[in-house]
Amino acid sequence: MDPDRGYRIRAHVPGDYGQLRALWAGETLPAALGLSAADNREGIAAFLQRNAGLSLGLWCGEELVGSVLAGSDGRRGYIYHLEVRPDVRGRGWGRRLIEQAVAALAASGVQKVHAFVYADNHPGRLFWQSIGFLLRDELVVYSRETTEQARFDKPLSAR
Ligand SMILES: CC(C)(COP(=O)(O)OP(=O)(O)OC[C@H]1O[C@@H](n2cnc3c(N)ncnc32)[C@H](O)[C@@H]1OP(=O)(O)O)[C@@H](O)C(=O)NCCC(=O)NCCS
Repeated sequence: MDPDRGYRIRAHVPGDYGQLRALWAGETLPAALGLSAADNREGIAAFLQRNAGLSLGLWCGEELVGSVLAGSDGRRGYIYHLEVRPDVRGRGWGRRLIEQAVAALAASGVQKVHAFVYADNHPGRLFWQSIGFLLRDELVVYSRETTEQARFDKPLSAR
């Protein structure tokens, strides 16, 4: 029997939040996802509204078994929190989620898409390489919180 029967990808809606949290909670390497305080119910709902149709869930029946959040600032596309549940990995669903998210971003007018990957996420890096993303080893990322006063004498937490 076809192992992918019963699986389908559809755009996320805010009501998926509970299942999204459950999927993330089951990740064996949670740090790889880069979750932050912004990933609360309100934050995700606002993100999905602002980027309607770009973030995708992989469903097996009524169960969420994969997800990717995708958004755009109108110029570049950004991909966050890609996960395929461990028991569903290695069947091409991660690739399909990204291909569909990139297609949706392209349709929205975006010409280039970035994915931020923790340097120590070696399996994740192999994945992005396998699906044709180019490693930008000439770049590093600088970040700063907007909600707290800058404290230049103390480095921000990395994640
Ligand atoms: C990364 C992840 C989404 C991949 O999902 P997946 O459904 O297993 O990936 P696919 O089956 O679509 O694989 C696509 C390609 O990536 C390669 N790949 C995937 N996982 C790999 C791994 N652990 N090691 C080496 N290559 C890997 C596959 O071999 C495949 O290449 P091929 O088509 O040339 O054979 C999944 O492992 C995951 O959820 N990891 C934990 C969370 C994470 O790290 N997310 C990424 C954050 S940046």
